[in-house]
Amino acid sequence: MIAPSILSADFARLADEAAAVKGADWLHVDVMDAHFVPNLTLGLPVVQSLLAATDIPMDCHLMIEDPGRWAPPYAEAGAYNVTFHAEATDNPVAVARDIRAAGAKAGLSIKPGTPLEPYLEILRDFDTLLVMSVEPGFGGQSFIPEVLSKVRAVRKLVDSGELNILVEIDGGINADTVEQAAAAGVDCFVAGSAVYSAADPGAAVESLRRQALAASPHLRA
Ligand code: DX5
Ligand code: ZN
Repeated sequence: MIAPSILSADFARLADEAAAVKGADWLHVDVMDAHFVPNLTLGLPVVQSLLAATDIPMDCHLMIEDPGRWAPPYAEAGAYNVTFHAEATDNPVAVARDIRAAGAKAGLSIKPGTPLEPYLEILRDFDTLLVMSVEPGFGGQSFIPEVLSKVRAVRKLVDSGELNILVEIDGGINADTVEQAAAAGVDCFVAGSAVYSAADPGAAVESLRRQALAASPHLRA
């Protein structure tokens, strides 16, 4: 699955930018609050408008403090998957329960420096694990390959039937990095600058998908 990130799109033309990637599996929307990360993007009103403007399932990545308070409304609005950060709350399971009760899939995200082990036990309460492969906050950064050990660990648990979760990666995914991420076991690839800096964003999505499929045994199986 390919999830173009509209962080790299033209914010004045979001409906057109969504239409430009209509073959995408998910549309990734980065919500930043200038507290959890040192950047500010958009919030619920823009997500609501965008939901009305596209049929692509929306993947909201909340890089915000207090997700227990702010995450469920994104699910109520109709987002397909709502992901928040493990580092932002003391009670991730309660937040996941509220997101699911509001009708969306629940995702847990961990920053590059956050270990996976403390969260393994609670992953059964989530639908998605978003492994950050850059420090959250900005598009266009370089891929951190060390995070792939976390992807491999989760892939193993999924393949052995111990876990049922989708593995998503976010940050620095492009033609040079998508194959190593695919080989490590990623199911869903977020790509911002690689898609929206391309002359044809729709073709960039197709090309990333082809590369990922060719490089990942678990996706072809
Ligand atoms: C960064 C965001 C990403 C960002 C990725 O904090 O979570 O979704 O858009 O951008 P690229 O693909 O350019 O690294
Ligand atoms: Zn993101």
